[in-house]
Amino acid sequence: MRVLVTGGAGYIGSHTVVALAAAGHQPVIVDNFGNAKPAVVERLATLIGSTPEVRRFDLTDWDATEALFAEQAFDAVIHFAGLKAVAESVSHPLDYYRNNLDSTMSLLSAMQRHQVWRLVFSSSATVYGGNAPVPMHEDLPVSAVNPYGWSKAMNEQVLRDVALTDAEWRIAVLRYFNPCGAHPSGLIGEDPTGIPNNLMPFIAQVAAGRRPLVKIFGGDYPTPDGTAIRDYIHVEDLAGGHLAALDRLDALTERLRVWNLGTGQGSTVLEVLYAFERACGRALPHQIVERRPGDVAVSYADVTRATAELGWRAKHGIDRICAGHWRWQSANPDGYRA
Ligand code: WQD
Repeated sequence: MRVLVTGGAGYIGSHTVVALAAAGHQPVIVDNFGNAKPAVVERLATLIGSTPEVRRFDLTDWDATEALFAEQAFDAVIHFAGLKAVAESVSHPLDYYRNNLDSTMSLLSAMQRHQVWRLVFSSSATVYGGNAPVPMHEDLPVSAVNPYGWSKAMNEQVLRDVALTDAEWRIAVLRYFNPCGAHPSGLIGEDPTGIPNNLMPFIAQVAAGRRPLVKIFGGDYPTPDGTAIRDYIHVEDLAGGHLAALDRLDALTERLRVWNLGTGQGSTVLEVLYAFERACGRALPHQIVERRPGDVAVSYADVTRATAELGWRAKHGIDRICAGHWRWQSANPDGYRA
C-alpha cells in the first residue's frame, strides 16, 4: 500500500517508515521538520535501500495538504504529526490546540475529499487522565490533565464524529504508553530538542556524559521502591503495532476502534535506571528529588484487546529497550547533527 506517514521524520514515525518499507509498503513522509532533523532521511535511505519520498510542509496549511492529495493517491494514512511535550503544552496551550487539532482536521478534510478512508492515529495514554485504574483498559472514560493530553482526547472525538459521516471510514486509534528504545542498527533513535522531558532520553544523555546526573522525581510513591511506575514500550514494538493496525483496518466491522500499545508490564524509575546501567556498563549518578507536578504514581496498559484483535504483543523488555537506546545514543552522542 502507498501510505502517507505524517510526522514520518520524527522518532516513532521514522521507525514506522522502516517497518512499512520492510513489509513491502510504499511510505511517503510529510513533515514540517519542527521536531525532526533532515539527516534522518539519509539514515532511512540506508535502512530502506532507497530514499523515501519526503514532502516538507505543515499540515495546518490546508492548501498544501489538499494539493498533496490531489497530486497522488494514497491507500492509507498514519498520522503522527503533532506537538507532544507535556510541559510545553501547559505554557503554550494555544499552540498545542491549534497545531494538533488543525493539522488533524486539515488531513481529514483532504482524505474525505479524495476518498482515502483508512487512517491510523497516534494517540496517547495521557487520555486516561490522572486517576485511572491500572491496568488501563480502552473502555475507560477519556479525560486529561494537560493541554497536550486534551488535544489528543479532542482529536479522538473529532475522529469519532467524522467516522459517523461515511460508512467507508476505518480508523484505528492507538494509545501509546511510554515509547523508548531505538532501531537495532543504532542509525535512528530519539533526538529530543533541548533538555529531554522524558526519562529514557535524559538517562541516555547522562550515560553519554552530556548531563551530570539523573534527577528522579519522587521517591515516596506507593510502589515497591518508592519511584513511579510506567509501561515502557520499545519503539520497534510500537512500529509493529501500527502495521498490525493498518492490516486490520479493512476487516474492521466498526468504523473506529481504539487499541492500547504497551507491554502490560510496569517498571519503576529506579528499575529503568539500573537497566540502563547494565546496558552502558557503568553506574549513573542519580538523586531522588521531589515529585514532578502532574505525574501519576502508576501507569501501565491492559493489552488484551491488541493481542486478541491485532495478534500483536510487545516482544522487548526493559533490558532490550535500554540496550537499543544506548546503542543509538553512544553512536550518536549529539543526536542527528543536522
Ligand atoms: C516517566 C517517569 C517521571 C524524567 C509522557 C507523556 C506521555 C508520553 C510519554 C507522548 C515519570 C520520571 C522523568 C526525569 C524522572 N508522551 N522522570 N526524571 O510523564 O510518563 O509520559 O511521556 O505521548 O504522553 O505524558 O513520561 O518519561 O516524562 O516520565 O524521574 O528526568 O520518569 O516523573 O515518573 P510520562 P516521562
